[in-house]
Amino acid sequence: MLAQCLKATAEAIRQAGAAIREGRLVAFPTETVYGLGADATDDKAVASIFEAKGRPRFNPLIVHVANLQEAEKHCVFNAEAERLARRFWPGGLTLVLPRREDTALSLLVSAGLDTVAVRVPAHETARALIKEAKRPLAAPSANPSGKVSPTRAAHVMEGLGEAPQLAFVLDGGACPLGLESTVIGFPQGIPTLLRPGAVARDEIEAVLGRPLADADAASGEEGRASPGQLESHYAPGSPIRLDAAEVAEDEVLLAFGPDAPKAKTSMNLSASGDLTEAAANLFAMLRALDAEAGGRRIAVMPIPMTGLGEAINDRLKRAAAPRD
Ligand code: TXA
Ligand code: MG
Repeated sequence: MLAQCLKATAEAIRQAGAAIREGRLVAFPTETVYGLGADATDDKAVASIFEAKGRPRFNPLIVHVANLQEAEKHCVFNAEAERLARRFWPGGLTLVLPRREDTALSLLVSAGLDTVAVRVPAHETARALIKEAKRPLAAPSANPSGKVSPTRAAHVMEGLGEAPQLAFVLDGGACPLGLESTVIGFPQGIPTLLRPGAVARDEIEAVLGRPLADADAASGEEGRASPGQLESHYAPGSPIRLDAAEVAEDEVLLAFGPDAPKAKTSMNLSASGDLTEAAANLFAMLRALDAEAGGRRIAVMPIPMTGLGEAINDRLKRAAAPRD
């Protein structure tokens, strides 16, 4: 049976909240991407997220809560984490922190680690759903494992509409940021960028007053890049060529900025060269070009590494990585 896709009215959110309490899955919009949500305190419900996504293994999941006080029930904040939470929550920042002994969260959300990833979403529908469900929501991006993250309800229906665990897709329109949250952890107490995302590195460094360490450079188990950061990820079906200065006859073009070369089939992430606009368009345009490419290669123009460019380039690199 196909999941029900409902406009995110108060009544739909009420029904969706009840479905969460019954252990079913609900896809919902956040300001970053659509999430596939379950009651984070229910082992079976959390397990069914992995089943629905077809995840190759249990990656740890982000737990979405209403506010900082709720987050403090589940994990232990250090002073820097608290500063970041106060500045960026609600919003596109995820903090990886030690689990509290007495948390009610399923062990499965941590996938065997002694940490938990938490975030307070800003999107009004996500906030209303957390409130209605009266539960913390475990939610990865609502796409089949390894595919491009969804930024529209229709993308979720395309990828997961037939998953029997999924009760509802709440349609809240296009996700305003369009890129997953930035993930920060504190291995050995050092603030570390585990995944670049919706909040740019320099904004976070400005609040901390020191540079973020990079995941790969950090030593030890905790400091590795987020376990979900598989090399090939966010992958469209068509091959991708990065840093393209010109377009070949048999390629379609993903352009950026005012000086795009002419191509028969092309889309521009931002004709004015605005990285925020480019982030919001990235996944939807990758999908649209992929659908039109019909096996042709997608040539992608270079994107600057400043601000959100770091996260955009990270996703593009993964989209272009060799597939298994
Ligand atoms: O914007 C987002 O973050 C979206 C929306 C729905 O909130 N969610 C999302 O979840 O992107 P997901 O599961 O696709 O990515 C979560 C990332 C993964 O890279 C995962 O490895 C990392 O967070 N993560 C989660 N828990 C972790 C932990 N305990 N330690 C290290 N990394 C963790
Ligand atoms: Mg994901």
